[in-house]
Amino acid sequence: MEAARRTALCLCSVLFVLTEVSSRLIHIPSLVHHGVKGSALLLSVETHFPWDDVEIQGIWSHTKPSGSREMLVTFDKKDTITNMRYSNNLVFRKPNISLLIQKLSEDYEGDYELSLNIQFHNQSGPVIKEERTIHVTVDVPVSNPVIEKSPSYAVIEDRANVTWTCAVEMGTRVVFQWLKDNIPLAPSKRYHLNHDNSMLFISPVRKEDKGTYRCVASNPVSQSQDSRSVELNVYYGPYNLEVNSSQGLRTGEVFTINPGELVLFDCQADSNPPNSYVWISKNHNGSQIITEGPRLEVRSYRLAQAEEYLCRAFNNVTQKQDEAQFTLVVASLGTGKQKHTQESGSVSPLAAITVSSLFIIGCMLLFFLRKTCHPKRVLMTIYNRPFTEEKRPHRSGHEDATEDFGIYEFVSIPGKMESAQMSCRSLSRLESIQDMHTTIYDVIRHVPETPSHSLLN
Ligand SMILES: *[C@@H]1O[C@H](CO)[C@@H](O)[C@H](O)[C@H]1NC(C)=O
Ligand SMILES: *[C@@H]1O[C@H](CO)[C@@H](O)[C@H](O)[C@H]1NC(C)=O
Ligand SMILES: *[C@@H]1O[C@H](CO)[C@@H](O)[C@H](O)[C@H]1NC(C)=O
Ligand SMILES: *[C@@H]1O[C@H](CO)[C@@H](O)[C@H](O)[C@H]1NC(C)=O
Ligand SMILES: *[C@@H]1O[C@H](CO)[C@@H](O)[C@H](O)[C@H]1NC(C)=O
Ligand SMILES: *[C@@H]1O[C@H](CO)[C@@H](O)[C@H](O)[C@H]1NC(C)=O
Repeated sequence: MEAARRTALCLCSVLFVLTEVSSRLIHIPSLVHHGVKGSALLLSVETHFPWDDVEIQGIWSHTKPSGSREMLVTFDKKDTITNMRYSNNLVFRKPNISLLIQKLSEDYEGDYELSLNIQFHNQSGPVIKEERTIHVTVDVPVSNPVIEKSPSYAVIEDRANVTWTCAVEMGTRVVFQWLKDNIPLAPSKRYHLNHDNSMLFISPVRKEDKGTYRCVASNPVSQSQDSRSVELNVYYGPYNLEVNSSQGLRTGEVFTINPGELVLFDCQADSNPPNSYVWISKNHNGSQIITEGPRLEVRSYRLAQAEEYLCRAFNNVTQKQDEAQFTLVVASLGTGKQKHTQESGSVSPLAAITVSSLFIIGCMLLFFLRKTCHPKRVLMTIYNRPFTEEKRPHRSGHEDATEDFGIYEFVSIPGKMESAQMSCRSLSRLESIQDMHTTIYDVIRHVPETPSHSLLN
């Protein structure tokens, strides 16, 4: 039992040792070599057996990429035969079985096979066969690449294509890489590269293609320095037109400013070359250019009048333009920002809008009256109580407002300057000035009927 176990163990270890020895008899540190044309290449082989304890036979042979195969060196322990055609260029010295190629040329590309028969003196086992293949390429190092752009001038976005080429004077198996602003070019649907990346075709050119381009050439044996940088200038825009102001209160497209306050508006848009800007004031009369340049200065006292402004950005190269419109409302915002910061942020804009809206409605009435009866002298006669029902169809029970109710009359008096000289006369003198142009406005049209009776009676 014990003997059987020992024998099994022994067998195992012998088998283990045999396989171990076989796989470790030779070792090739590198199975692929990228050789440089003109330089030497060592096909290195490490041996892990005592040269004196073995009988050995071996062949180094070469298979070209075309498939033709040639013997280079045949050897055994005593003799070495080197292929005469390569003998000047090959170095093979036993017991070192590495093969040194002294000067590489393209002819030396291909697969190098080493095949060995090894037999140990102290055992009568089978002849151990070892075979290895080493792949060799031969390349010319790349020279520094030259970059070129077509067209050489700046291009307009979406209307042009750009072709970049990168070329090297020397180098085999060259692969090019493109860098934009020092970052390897990210793939894009608009980039078209040829097989070795020597040509980059951008179609169509976009704003984001603007930048500095370089190329790098490389092959298995070398990497070039970067080419010089070439700028690609792309004309584009205007984009993202925006109007901002540090003053006033902004609600969407509406800026509310204090009366008499000088407010600066800046118009900005992304564009190459820079835009030209014009500011246009729009009113019922039409629109007119009020200033040029990115900044508009406004000082307005005209309360309750919504003024429309428009900033127009124009790129004279792309011939594109963009416009941003906003409304300016003059209303008392109090102390402006300080007031708003003191109040809670969410409430203040809403409150301001409510206040200004109310203010605007109130002012509209006043403005309307003023405008109709243009020059300053306005006479208003209020027909106070008591009124007959026929003359006064609307009544009010509102205590504070009763004084203001009545019929407002505006009379145009023909005079030296018919259009300008206007005044308003009271209705009481209506009979005496029948020839004048008169207009009667019933100011308050809808008055609740019920509570008024008690007051009037
Ligand atoms: C075999 O020869 C090469 C040069 O021909 C040498 O670089 C290498 O170290 C040698 N190997 C051994 C094990 O001596
Ligand atoms: C034969 O000799 C080699 C080296 O001298 C040794 O490593 C190996 O173990 C020996 N083999 C046997 C079966 O004795
Ligand atoms: C740009 O390239 C596209 C094809 O990708 C072509 O159809 C177009 O005509 C070219 N435009 C110019 C301006 O060359
Ligand atoms: C508009 O904003 C820009 C930056 O966003 C700023 O430089 C500029 O001063 C602002 N203009 C005004 C009038 O506040
Ligand atoms: C309307 O346009 C005319 C002529 O362009 C100008 O004289 C007038 O002042 C304008 N009126 C207003 C209210 O802008
Ligand atoms: C475009 O406008 C700039 C000034 O903003 C001017 O210098 C340039 O000559 C103009 N170019 C063309 C093509 O009109």
